[in-house]
Amino acid sequence: MSITEQDQMNIVIVGHVDHGKSTVIGRLLADTGSLPDGKLESVKENCKRNSKPFEYAFLLDALKDEQAQGITIDAARVFFKSDKRHYIIIDAPGHIEFLKNMITGASRAEAALLVIDAAEGVQENSRRHGYMLSMLGIKQVVVLVNKMDLVEYDEKVFNAIQKEYNEFLSKIGLKPAAYIPVSGMNGVNIAGKNSETSWFDGMNVLEALDMFQVEAAPHDKPFRMPVQDVYKFTRFGDNRRIIAGTVETGRLHKGDTVMFLPSGKKSVVDSIEAVHKDGQDFIESGMAGGFTLAEQIYVTRGEMAVKVGEAYPEVSTTFQVSLFWLAHQPMVEKKEYFIKIGTSKVAVKLEKINGIIDASNLGSLEKNQVERHDVADCTLVTQKALAFDLSDEISATSRFVIIDNYEITGGGIIRKSVENTTSDIRNHIQIRNYKWEKGSVTMARRAERLCQRPTLVIITGGKEQDKKTLAKSLEEKLFEDGRYVYYLGIGNVKYGVDADLVENKQNGREHVRRLAEVAHIVLDLGAVLIVTASDLDQEHLEVIKASINPEVIQTIWVGNEVTTDIQNDLHILDDELETTDCVARIKENLQDIGTFFKVWN
Ligand code: GTP
Ligand code: MG
Repeated sequence: MSITEQDQMNIVIVGHVDHGKSTVIGRLLADTGSLPDGKLESVKENCKRNSKPFEYAFLLDALKDEQAQGITIDAARVFFKSDKRHYIIIDAPGHIEFLKNMITGASRAEAALLVIDAAEGVQENSRRHGYMLSMLGIKQVVVLVNKMDLVEYDEKVFNAIQKEYNEFLSKIGLKPAAYIPVSGMNGVNIAGKNSETSWFDGMNVLEALDMFQVEAAPHDKPFRMPVQDVYKFTRFGDNRRIIAGTVETGRLHKGDTVMFLPSGKKSVVDSIEAVHKDGQDFIESGMAGGFTLAEQIYVTRGEMAVKVGEAYPEVSTTFQVSLFWLAHQPMVEKKEYFIKIGTSKVAVKLEKINGIIDASNLGSLEKNQVERHDVADCTLVTQKALAFDLSDEISATSRFVIIDNYEITGGGIIRKSVENTTSDIRNHIQIRNYKWEKGSVTMARRAERLCQRPTLVIITGGKEQDKKTLAKSLEEKLFEDGRYVYYLGIGNVKYGVDADLVENKQNGREHVRRLAEVAHIVLDLGAVLIVTASDLDQEHLEVIKASINPEVIQTIWVGNEVTTDIQNDLHILDDELETTDCVARIKENLQDIGTFFKVWN
């Protein structure tokens, strides 16, 4: 019999070390008849022979070697079934592993059992795990107060723990569906009702599991599909591409208009290419599949496909997150890490720590770095804009991991997008790209004819520096080489396109924005565009990068001293300026970034 989504559920069991997670699971397996025949007896027999007391937790270890008799357990996952449905219980050995898996999507749990030892009471990890569950968006939680036998099944002990823990959980917005007094060891309130707790008239553990609701598949949310890959049809003359990925939420039909973010490019869905399902005209959450487009637009892995007409995700370089740090090395400001959201991976820096939350007591700690196991509220800044959702809206596309040196070192969820210096411009650009009416000649065809990739060469430096002569020599040289090239001084824009702007410092950014828009058109023509402007700084460059693909921008600073914070690709000193050598160096740089397709004669 195959198991449908409806009758299967993933549950995670968490709790402080030794509070009895494995024992509760072992008991659950035994009391629901989920163990292979004779297993319980053989484990008990084995204990007797080695004169060690039997533990229900041993069942889990014993089952690990069970390959031959149908696997009941693998790694930290236990499979069993009730009359109602099948369960996978994830026994989170290290909660860090679990967190990592939850965030990366390696495992998903819809509900949780949280175990607290009645004799020891609420411990640091009891609280930390509660916090973690709330951070991961697991809202269905049942708390098991275990080892009730050690406190003589005293109702007062149970009530006190319930009260204390509830106070904590209410602060983080978690409301457990139930508290159950149990004894894993004696099997009290696990799969039956027991006289030891006659004062308790609630559900037992098995009933509590069966009460959890399977979450509805998020088909009714806005469509989100991180682009995993773009495949080319191989048949001759067919130049369509399949945009492939796994749909996180929503649904997309043939004929819908899709937009790709952060680029803002859009097109109409020409066909749906669903895996294993021929003739289907839509894809929806949970499915791996793809679609082709009516127009060929340039889309790459890492963009997020969304549906026009539905709520859009955020697009930003700056956002506030709740972050859980896993690495021994603390997370520090200024260091470059990578962030992975969906299928996109970009460089990221820790901009600011707004607060470190001590997850065990919700107090805040004053620290200037995020240490192992800290939960931090912080602001991150990425090198390139990312598309994402906020955790309150669509949790799947708000989750991220931080990677340092090929290892996952942290993870978390995005709480909100932060306005930054280029967010207004990015908004314009999104609309601009959305409204942009494309001609029938594609960028790829232009590039093929011109044997070059459109590129923007920015020559900047102090006011006194002669940048124009260099720009014109470069233009001359590239033209002689047979290249399609154009020189544009910022002055050309200033007195034409910018005629309505007063020239002052405040308008500097707007001048640059307009220059970038003009450059965008010239680049769309397929040209190599050389621009000159004085004293450009990093913020100006960010404005330009918001409009133009950063990969095709080359920045050159002219003059001995770099007087702004701009990051240059090439630095030309005063006495080098006299030589023709610097033109050759710029050309070489362009070759390196792949501007020219082949060497012309
Ligand atoms: P870790 O996996 O190491 O975090 O521990 P755990 O939470 O899985 O605890 P485990 O089930 O291994 O139990 C730890 C100890 O508590 C064992 O010695 C159990 O026998 C004991 N224990 C578990 N449940 C009960 C119970 O209901 N009553 C009593 N008296 N002891 C229990
Ligand atoms: Mg255990």
